[in-house]
Amino acid sequence: MNRKKIVAGNWKMNKLYSEAVELVDEITIALKDDEKADGIVKILIPSFPYLRKVARHSHGIKNMFTGAQNCAHEEGGAFTGEVSAAMIKSLGVSHVIIGHSERRSYFHETNEDLKKKVNIVLGQSLTPIFCVGESEEKRHAKEHFAVIEKQITDSLFHLPATEFAKVVLAYEPVWAIGTGLTATSHQAQEMHLFIRTLIEKKYGKETANMISILYGGSCNAKNATELFACPDVDGGLIGGASLVAKDFITIIHSFPQ
Ligand code: PGA
Repeated sequence: MNRKKIVAGNWKMNKLYSEAVELVDEITIALKDDEKADGIVKILIPSFPYLRKVARHSHGIKNMFTGAQNCAHEEGGAFTGEVSAAMIKSLGVSHVIIGHSERRSYFHETNEDLKKKVNIVLGQSLTPIFCVGESEEKRHAKEHFAVIEKQITDSLFHLPATEFAKVVLAYEPVWAIGTGLTATSHQAQEMHLFIRTLIEKKYGKETANMISILYGGSCNAKNATELFACPDVDGGLIGGASLVAKDFITIIHSFPQ
């Protein structure tokens, strides 16, 4: 299977500017001559004001990219306080997280809003990292598969196969994000396989086999090895543990050899 292996660090609303520069420096210095990490796609995802700096500092490291945490749902114009996909692109950024559960819950972003964002991001030739995940309540009600299916169907399945193939998916159970409660490798593999099967039904085996599906939710330097060993887990979207260079690097080294 030669799907891309990806580790993305979602810094969320953390770090002052000087701290962000220090973190990107620590990470890039560690990765500079790290041949083991060369084949892994690494994405740093800081807050908007730091994107340009992080993109410049990451330049020259093999398979290293910069991502934004969000973008506007319109292409441009009178939307005070918003940042467009085109602006993000112009900073040397290549990826954009869309549909993170914090955006869905605190900012009430709907599947329909996210569909618009996906279109705008792909229109700029940026790569969406599209997040899906169920709440604790939905998992207890055994509705987790239905929730994920709806999130993916409503926001992504309008895309033609050639566009869909550019998307990176991230399964992030809401109950695991920032809680220290990680999904078990069984739970993660079960959901990742469900997602891949869903994609296969819509777009066929070839497309399903090339889409990277990341796990997110309290993934850290201790549990990444077990999670990344699952056949349908292609890496991680890392929050808290991506704020510590040493832990982030350990996670990058956690793929089976
Ligand atoms: P966490 O966050 O690793 O801190 O749980 C993951 C995410 O929200 O992307």
